[in-house]
Amino acid sequence: MKGNGDPAFWAKAKAHLVRYGGAFSPVIAASAKGNYFTDADGRRILDFTSGQMSAILGHSHPEIVEVAQRSIAELDHLYSTLLSRPVVELAALIAEIAPGALDRVLLVSTGGESNEAALRMAKLVTGCHEIVAFSRSWHGVTGGAASATYSSSRRGYGPGQPGALVLPAPDTYRSRFIDQRGVYDWRSELDFGFELVDRQSTGALAACIAEPILSSGGVLEPPEGYVAALAEKCRERDMQLIFDEAQTGLGRTGHLFACERDGVVPQYLTLSKTLGAGLPLAAMLTTPEIEDIVAERGFLFYTTHASDPLPAAVGLKVIEVILREGLSARAARLGERLKAGLLALQQRYDCIGDVRGRGLLLGVDLVKDRRTKAPDAELAQHVARECLALGMMTSVVRGGFGIFRIAPPLTIEPHEIDLGLEIFDQALGRATH
Ligand SMILES: Cc1ncc(COP(=O)(O)O)c(C=O)c1O
Repeated sequence: MKGNGDPAFWAKAKAHLVRYGGAFSPVIAASAKGNYFTDADGRRILDFTSGQMSAILGHSHPEIVEVAQRSIAELDHLYSTLLSRPVVELAALIAEIAPGALDRVLLVSTGGESNEAALRMAKLVTGCHEIVAFSRSWHGVTGGAASATYSSSRRGYGPGQPGALVLPAPDTYRSRFIDQRGVYDWRSELDFGFELVDRQSTGALAACIAEPILSSGGVLEPPEGYVAALAEKCRERDMQLIFDEAQTGLGRTGHLFACERDGVVPQYLTLSKTLGAGLPLAAMLTTPEIEDIVAERGFLFYTTHASDPLPAAVGLKVIEVILREGLSARAARLGERLKAGLLALQQRYDCIGDVRGRGLLLGVDLVKDRRTKAPDAELAQHVARECLALGMMTSVVRGGFGIFRIAPPLTIEPHEIDLGLEIFDQALGRATH
């Protein structure tokens, strides 16, 4: 039997694969094209997770295929001090579209790496080492990024880096700073968070790292005004600000960069997942003033794949397609259609406690009881299994919540949004009856 149930495949997987993130999905992916992948039983499965939140142009976009094929044949990988045209062109293009004066760009491979680079730079330029991050953050699994990550388990790996300080994540649904009338007093929460930061700090605050919408933490969208107030808190303390736009960058939220909604330009901005649209490519952006200072101090972030031409050529094409096709505006438009559909489902299913998010990055929070807002993690897993059985891939965030993270490719068609909603409806029906 060569389908999803192929015992030889699963036996080999069990014998030879490290389980790096819990259980594997129970189907075998055979191919992927557009907004679907096909499994080993020949079923087309709607990809409502854009791969790992990355394939914003869908799978095997013809222009990406063409660039990748040409690039692997002509200019693939080089010694890391050797520059090539795709790298310089991509850096210039990113600087051109980025907010503010974030004109200097480092090109690497993964989100964790790009954050690591920003954290190291902030430490070198400030001479300080304390890093503040949200209590539901995800910035990667490498040393510095993992120390600033609180939405995955930190247990079992010994101490993180010294000076890791935590700020309450802005949770408009479950914050303890929501009063009886349902009003979220985020200013008091932020003041309280920084009161604790100031108490813990040894006077060595280097930076605050934040996702403009906390994705892995449960699609937590800070209220309007919050991000600007956070930036002000950092300014008051001479701390630098790093925005991690791994998931929110390049159109997904309806803006090219999510921080544009908030009118805040950080000292560092990192891009990853969406920049390569599924290929490993990441960028760290900063200002010329900062880069000049750290260059003089001997900044080192020398990696095997820094400034690799092949992924850079792909990144150039990704941005070209996003701009040419107006995919940010498309994400805003189709996001409204998707959100309206999810809100309509909320009217019919008591288990949907909250629907939130922006553009094509939405969260659906399943609860046992709307009054207590107790998360229903088990139900969410059940619904996710039903979705897959019905032909749609979904993602439930980690950490004991029952939160679906819905992030289809920006190339999704209106009828595919409707199909996704129909499948979600059926899956909820099956799981709750
Ligand atoms: C916001 C954010 N930053 C960083 C990362 C880490 O990226 P990578 O897994 O490419 O290292 C992730 C991964 O999920 C992420 O969601």
